Amino acid sequence: MTTSSSSAQLLDGKALSIQVLDELKATVSARIESGKSQPGLATVLVGEDPASHIYVRNKRRACEKVGVASFHHELAAETGQEQLLDLITKLNADDRVHGILVQLPLPKEFDYDENEVLAAIDAKKDADGFHPLNQGALLQGRPAPVPCTPKGVMRLLDLTNLDLSGMHAVVVGRSNIVGKPVALLLLARNMTVTICHSRTKDLATEVRRADVVVAAVGVAELVQGDWIKPGAVVLDVGINRNQEGKLVGDVEFFGACQNAAWITPVPGGVGPMTIGMLLQNTVEAANLYD
Ligand code: GUN
Repeated sequence: MTTSSSSAQLLDGKALSIQVLDELKATVSARIESGKSQPGLATVLVGEDPASHIYVRNKRRACEKVGVASFHHELAAETGQEQLLDLITKLNADDRVHGILVQLPLPKEFDYDENEVLAAIDAKKDADGFHPLNQGALLQGRPAPVPCTPKGVMRLLDLTNLDLSGMHAVVVGRSNIVGKPVALLLLARNMTVTICHSRTKDLATEVRRADVVVAAVGVAELVQGDWIKPGAVVLDVGINRNQEGKLVGDVEFFGACQNAAWITPVPGGVGPMTIGMLLQNTVEAANLYD
């Protein structure tokens, strides 16, 4: 067996998220000691998707670690739009709740209108930054809660201390949750941004041009290691199981390590940062509005 040297430094999302949660814990304690209310996050989970259950469980555990109150609501897949909207109305009016999160995707087999659900959340309690008012603010560069995974990606990118201005970023994936908002955040740093997706003609050629690659498509190891430009930064948002059942990202990790200067591992890269940023958005909402 041959071994090859890898040059990439790891961007350790696990370590950074622990630091973020520790800082939030201190902020929350100080807030409570000053006589203010405990911040609270409501999580709403509709249906039985196993991955969504794991994600929400991890979010609730992080609440506990930081001292944020967690209000959890599980609804059967067939609950329906009206009852879901009724629950959101109640959470909007609940003074103990500073952040509301409806875990996505909503069950496909029932006719949920995801956009209507997200718009029903009070924009001031929008812990995910998915409300159209907050998405508009992001587009216009005004302050507002920023979607958690894109915010976490930017925090990891900041670990490199690179001057991003004028560099070329390639975002693979165009979802409302990651691809589009992360592209806007990279643009706000004066990067030249290309968004690639399933209809992109020659993904390899696009990625080969990138100083920064953000992969967020949900296809195991779609981005080949030899597409990565020497010295590039690779931020891998994917969490997939490969054919052997192993957790892998959207980037072929070991190949990419040969070329990249920095890379996020999967697991332990972007994933934990999403949770850190969710708690940050919740505590910020409490500090701003209560
Ligand atoms: N599904 C996948 N990522 C997310 C997220 O960041 N927030 C919510 N609400 N649902 C998701």
